[in-house]
Amino acid sequence: MTVSTNSPRGSYWITTFGCQMNKADSERMAGILESMGYSQGHGEHSADLVLYNTCTIRDNAEQKVYSYLGRQAQRKRENPHLTLVVAGCVAQQEGESLLRRVPELDLVMGPQHANRLDVLLAQVEAGQQVVATEEHHILEDITTARRDSSVCGWVNVIYGCNERCTYCVVPSVRGQEQSRLPEAIKLEMEGLAAQGFKEITLLGQNIDAYGRDLPGITPEGRRSHTLTDLLHQVHDVEGIERIRFATSHPRYFTDRLIDACADLPKVCEHFHIPFQSGDDELLRAMARGYTVDRYRRIIERIRSRMPEASISADAIVAFPGESDAQYRRTLALIEEIGFDLVNTAAYSPRPNTPAATWPNQLTEAVKVERLQEINALVEQTAKARSARYAGRSVEVLAEGVNPKDSSQLMGRTRTNRLTFFPIAKADGSSHKAGDLVTVTIDQVRPFSLSGKLG
Ligand code: SAH
Ligand code: SF4
Ligand code: F3S
Repeated sequence: MTVSTNSPRGSYWITTFGCQMNKADSERMAGILESMGYSQGHGEHSADLVLYNTCTIRDNAEQKVYSYLGRQAQRKRENPHLTLVVAGCVAQQEGESLLRRVPELDLVMGPQHANRLDVLLAQVEAGQQVVATEEHHILEDITTARRDSSVCGWVNVIYGCNERCTYCVVPSVRGQEQSRLPEAIKLEMEGLAAQGFKEITLLGQNIDAYGRDLPGITPEGRRSHTLTDLLHQVHDVEGIERIRFATSHPRYFTDRLIDACADLPKVCEHFHIPFQSGDDELLRAMARGYTVDRYRRIIERIRSRMPEASISADAIVAFPGESDAQYRRTLALIEEIGFDLVNTAAYSPRPNTPAATWPNQLTEAVKVERLQEINALVEQTAKARSARYAGRSVEVLAEGVNPKDSSQLMGRTRTNRLTFFPIAKADGSSHKAGDLVTVTIDQVRPFSLSGKLG
């Protein structure tokens, strides 16, 4: 339901923290604001409505939000017409107590309420201070998201997470798993294709859980809705050239899925599969539900079907009780697998999570030291993986102009390496965002590549 359309309401500004889920939510909320008559402003210090879409995965992410809010509260005291909104995971975690901390706020809304922003703002306009954090069935999105890219789009396929990793705040802030119906997902992809989008990333915190909350069993006794089935179902959307998905969980990653990725030409050869630790005892303490060996077998199977595949992951160092030997097993696994990229983090105790209450927490000094060492190794491994592109021709999907050099476009390989190349073709015309371009790589860096056309 849209409260009223196109009555001019002033400008808005959204600042987004956190993961792709939050970015996708922000794009939908921007779409709602525009359908209400708001227009995009020029910055958070001049807009009439400021929305922070927040992240609480680690303490530093949460603290960042409070420092931004302090400045906005000051602005609001000078300009009472300012509308101040906190959305996302800190909003869900803190709820009412955020209002006590920052009484200038107009609206505090959890991630499950993103598609209801118009209704909630109507309550604000009626003079209320609103907190929307109750468990909510996520409405099918009926507004058009305002997307940052015109080439690569996110499409949510499952919201929430039913896992209980002992360090992780996500289940308590994102709620129970809710899968969207395949028809709704396909419809959204067709709409994006019609607008000229070329690449779709299907999103879920634990995307392998897709469909387990939907009814249906096949004659062979399998669930009828799985990520593998979904990939087959959406693969024929005309105009979409590339399909990606994230984030994968080793516990549920199936051989069927690997086969589908190998067999379906649009599905890119890039897999983001967090392993978190290279030590079985720690994986147990984290309640991850797999062993290091199981992880190895997944990667072997991927590489046997798709030798060019790139593999990225997340890892945590200095989890409670992590010994030096256990930490070194994580380093060893990074070397052994040869990851294209690993997002690393030092363990941060989070509210309402079991590991935060354990007595065997490690010191800040150990966290800093391990993080620095692992990051150096990740860079070295990434560099070695980048080297394989030197002199090779790769397909790059142009996403836009390189902000640091306007004679270049930037885009990604199918394996998700950021790549820079010249805009100008030999005949004097230009490439543009959305083009699939063949680039011969002549410079390799750990996390990006550059090359010539052709
Ligand atoms: N659903 C995904 C990712 C969730 S959050 C998964 O299951 O892997 C993204 C990453 O943040 C995680 O993979 C983990 O590496 C990191 N992370 C989550 N909680 C953390 C914490 N308390 N401290 C440090 N890193 C954390
Ligand atoms: Fe967090 Fe684990 Fe769920 Fe990932 S699978 S979001 S790490 S609880
Ligand atoms: Fe952060 Fe929430 Fe995503 S805590 S990582 S924004 S699910």
